[in-house]
Amino acid sequence: MATTDALADDLLQLAIDVAREAGELVVTARRSGVEVADRKSSPVDVVTQVDRDSEALIRARLLAARPLDGFLGEEGGRGASESGLTWVVDPIDGTVNFLYGIPHYAVSIAVVEGEPDPQTWSAVAGVVLNPATGELFTARRGGGALLDGRPIRVAEPVPLPEALIGTGFAYSAATRAEQGAAMAHLLPRIRDIRRMGTASLDLCAVASGRTNGYFERTLSAWDHAAGALIAREAGAIVKGAGERQPDRDFLLAAHPGLAPELERLVIEAGA
Ligand code: IPD
Ligand code: CA
Repeated sequence: MATTDALADDLLQLAIDVAREAGELVVTARRSGVEVADRKSSPVDVVTQVDRDSEALIRARLLAARPLDGFLGEEGGRGASESGLTWVVDPIDGTVNFLYGIPHYAVSIAVVEGEPDPQTWSAVAGVVLNPATGELFTARRGGGALLDGRPIRVAEPVPLPEALIGTGFAYSAATRAEQGAAMAHLLPRIRDIRRMGTASLDLCAVASGRTNGYFERTLSAWDHAAGALIAREAGAIVKGAGERQPDRDFLLAAHPGLAPELERLVIEAGA
């Protein structure tokens, strides 16, 4: 099934409405304080009750409006698609920032065509909302990327020594040790690193020219589904290792004029 632009626009509007409702839930809950509900892949990979409540709300609203669509959510929500479309949702991306009250976290909602696998899916629409600041990044396939309704573009390429590069570190201690060693190689060769703590917003930072590039290992599909579409629609390349699409092993995003050089450096660093 090929999703028409008119349907994609409707899906985007639904994602915006649902992200705003979930964002309201999330910031309201934050005001009364937040506690860790459980730990996942490691002691520092946490989930709060608000992550779960946000996902439950998003899932209920999306499936009420679109009962035949599939669902893939970070907090365990799974549903097969009968329509060919699947919603890929991170109910709070940047949970550690959320836990500490750092106003840099996001509700991330994408809708994709095909199997819910980043190697083969085609993202149709995506929304990344920072409910703490109100900033809303959106994209519809072929329709460009917007921040609060205004078009955004990736920054023009700069020499690597002047490039500000976002990244993130894994929850596994062993992987973090490797990433720390790679930073020693990288830092003298670029302007600086930003580790802001929310992958979806890191991709939107590339999309809006706030950073020159971004790379990370160990991301999950819900971390990048919406942000990758937004970055691409803003003119960035978003890729995995070699010819692959982004996956758990690797994701890199940058202007096409910077991406190859940045990827070479990241590989050389072993990052
Ligand atoms: C995490 C954030 C973080 C990134 C991690 C993600 P979560 O998502 O996006 O920036 O470095 O890889 O898992 O756990 O806060 O939803
Ligand atoms: Ca999350």
